[in-house]
This record gives sequence, structure tokens and C-alpha cells, in this order.
Amino acid sequence: MNGPRKLYVKSFGCQMNVYDSHRMTDLLVPEGFTETARVEDADLVILNTCHIREKAADKVYSELGRIRMLKQVAAEEGRRVTIAVAGCVAQAEGKEIIRRAPVVDLVVGPLNYHRLPGLLARAEREGAVVDTEFPVEDKFDLLKAPSREAIRTRGISAFVTVQEGCDKFCTFCVVPYTRGAETSRPVTKILAEVERLADAGVRDVTLIGQNVNAYHGEGPDGRPWTLGRLLARLAELPRIARLRYTTSHPCDMDASLIAAHRNLPSLMPYLHLPVQSGSDRILAAMNRRHTRADYLDAIARMRDARSDFAFSSDFIVGFPGESEDDFRATLSLVDEVHYASAFSFKYSARPGTPAAEMDDQIPDEVKTERLYRLQAAIDRHQAKFNAECVGRTFEILFDKPGRYPGQIVGRSPYLQPVQVMAPPTMIGDIAAVKITQRSTNSLFGALVEASMSAEPMLTEG
Ligand code: 5AD
Ligand code: SF4
Repeated sequence: MNGPRKLYVKSFGCQMNVYDSHRMTDLLVPEGFTETARVEDADLVILNTCHIREKAADKVYSELGRIRMLKQVAAEEGRRVTIAVAGCVAQAEGKEIIRRAPVVDLVVGPLNYHRLPGLLARAEREGAVVDTEFPVEDKFDLLKAPSREAIRTRGISAFVTVQEGCDKFCTFCVVPYTRGAETSRPVTKILAEVERLADAGVRDVTLIGQNVNAYHGEGPDGRPWTLGRLLARLAELPRIARLRYTTSHPCDMDASLIAAHRNLPSLMPYLHLPVQSGSDRILAAMNRRHTRADYLDAIARMRDARSDFAFSSDFIVGFPGESEDDFRATLSLVDEVHYASAFSFKYSARPGTPAAEMDDQIPDEVKTERLYRLQAAIDRHQAKFNAECVGRTFEILFDKPGRYPGQIVGRSPYLQPVQVMAPPTMIGDIAAVKITQRSTNSLFGALVEASMSAEPMLTEG
């Protein structure tokens, strides 16, 4: 073999897939692979897939169609390309993937990535290997830590998985089947991972889990710790300037988490708290385990802890049985909460989930019309939130060069990109920025120190 083999990994779907893709790369680099951004150069292609909605799952097969051609071209040149499908489609469909797309050599579920080197060797020998078992060993103990160089190229913001799987069983959702039962990583392992990231320059950490605020990992004292307690411990690391967590369930906003928001300045006042629907009837049919009032109460408790709190959410329109009145209840919830941002989706029936079997499935044109109305309401609130930011001063964490020469871009506490005229040496720094203008997706601002001379009477908003 000449030189290192080239690895191309493509992630679909959620942030946990991005994190898992990095872990797969970190595992394969010591095995003699180097990463490439060009699929046509790759000797090994890994598609890290998403099964959450039908459209997401379909993308895998269209991508495999394209890759089949590349594999043929490579074979004509005498080069072997190995194709692996990972992620939630792999878990849900298993060997069906190889039946539909025989170009695939390996199918590996999200709980088995630590076995990748062995599985690849077997797939290259025998072909058509499938591993979607729920293993007994802990994959996190066997996955490799990223090199310093890998951390640096990934930037100053990082995700850290603290929890995986879900026991909530919302009736529309595949996650409990594809990611398995809820598990939490021990505090000491998380702490070690965050410290390693800090050593390599990471300043902004987002703890991730499908149900992150149900975190209950073992603490150094041998007892289960809540997410609030874990965050308080991580907030003691001085190099980590910003902490976030996602995705949360409204039923698990406990007192320790609210106290963490009250007490920890590095914990950002921005929360993704999916509600899915504003109608109690639909929430019950979704098995969400909370009412509209419970949700609004959780929001009120967070706002009480920090008055500058802002929220984002996920919504599903056209869940089976959703009437126009149910949908209007969703619209009125959007108006009540004033979201800074939100995602909305048409309900997509997923095989094996209870909602897929429910009567009264909603026609696609009704879903489309409701999605359009909901997105218009969300956009209106987002524009209002952004407009209200103009004139305020935020701490901005700069993370990369900007669109135009002389500009750099950072993130506000609410994850809005903010473009500022400032030297590239400030990338990685946090500085006070006064927001001066906004466009649809960005804010523009000026360093407060720089504007002080021009505007000595500057007051904070
Ligand atoms: N159809 C549409 N949207 C879904 N989501 C999860 N399952 C489905 C489905 N079957 C949405 C939910 C969830 C987000 C990640 O994806 O809003 O919060
Ligand atoms: Fe899916 Fe979230 Fe419900 Fe769990 S809580 S089943 S991940 S929507």
C-alpha cells in the first residue's frame, strides 16, 4: 500500500452525528487513515446517517447511488473503495441497506463505533458486514481521544456527548429504537475530555445528549449527579468561557439546572426546549408527558432565574388527528413564548413508531400549509428578537475570519453570528460588542473599546 489511506466522512442530521463522526475519524487516524474533504479521493467512505424523518433517511440512498459510480471508476483504476453506512439508518435498517444498495460493505450502528477497525478488516475480507447489536461494553471507553491537531482544526467550539439514548418514547420518534436506552457518562470521563479540549484551545463547550437534562452520570463521590451539578463543576474550569447543553425535555428542567442558570455566568442564557405542539390533546397523543401549562411553567422558571433568557424549540405540524384548532394552539404558544429561533417540521410517519399506525393521518397539503403559517410566525418573532438586539452590548466569542477583509465573526450568547471589524488575532477572544445593525441572518457590531473614543457617552442596553 502506498501512503496513508484516505477517509471521507459525511454527517447527516443532528450534532451527535457530528460528534460521532469526529470520534470515528479519531479512531481511524491511528490505523493509518488521513482525512480528505474530497469523496472522489477516498479509499474509505463513511456516511453517518439520520433516520428522524423520511426525507433524512432517503438522502442516504441517493448519496449511495452517487458513490456507487465513484467506486466503479476507482475499481477501473485498480483502487478499492470501501463503503460504510453508520448512524441511525444503519441501526434501523441493518442488512436491508445491503439488500437495497449492494455497494455497501459495512453497516454499523451508533453504539458500535469502537469496533470499527475490526469490522472494516472483516468487511474488506468478506464484504457485507452488519453490526447493529446493543453491546455490553462501553463504547466511550474504547473510542480514542482526538489529537491536539484535530481539535485545533475543528475550532474553538466543541461538542461533548454526556448522555445517549432516550426512554421517553414520544409516539412519533425513532430515537429510543435507534439510539437505545438512556445512558449517562461518568463525570470524571467528561471532565477529562473537556480539560483535553481546553488544553488544545477550545473555549466553548456544548454538552450533548438526546435527552441531556435527564443526565444522571456517576459523580466522583460514587453517586448520580444531575446536569446542573455537572455544569457547576465544568464552570470551575477557567479556560472554558461558555457552556451550553442540548437537547432538553421540558419534564427534566429540575431545580439544580435552574440554579445553575442563576449562579453560573459561563452558562449561556439560551435554551433549546422542544415543545412539538401547543395543544394538550396532541401533546397527550404524542406521549410528551407534559401539558402546555407545564411547558410554559418551565419557561417562566427559567426566565425567573435569568431575565435575559431566550428560547428556541422544535415543532411538528400535521401530527395524526391535528385539527385546525390544535394547530392554532401551536401558533398561540409561539406568540406567548416569543422564541428567538425555532425549527418546524411536517410530521413524517416512521416505521415501527406508534404514531405511524394512528388513524387520521393528515394530508400532505394540509401539513404544507400549516408549516408555512408556523414558519411565518417563527420568522416574525426571530426578526423581532434580532431587532431588539440592536443597540445592546453583548460579549461576543470570536471564532473565525469574517465575510469581508478586516472582519471577524463571533457568536452572541444567543448563537447569533455577529460580524465585527477587528484583527484576526482576536479569534478565540471574548470582547464586548455593541450591536449596530442586523440583516436576516446576521448581526453587525463594533468593539466597545474601539467605539468608546468615538462615542464616549456609550451606555449598555
Ligand atoms: N416527524 C417529524 N418531525 C420529527 N421529529 C422527530 N421525529 C419526527 C417525525 N417522525 C422532530 C422533533 C424533534 C426533532 C429533532 O425532530 O421536532 O424534536
Ligand atoms: Fe424522541 Fe426527544 Fe421524545 Fe426522546 S424525548 S422520544 S428523543 S422526541
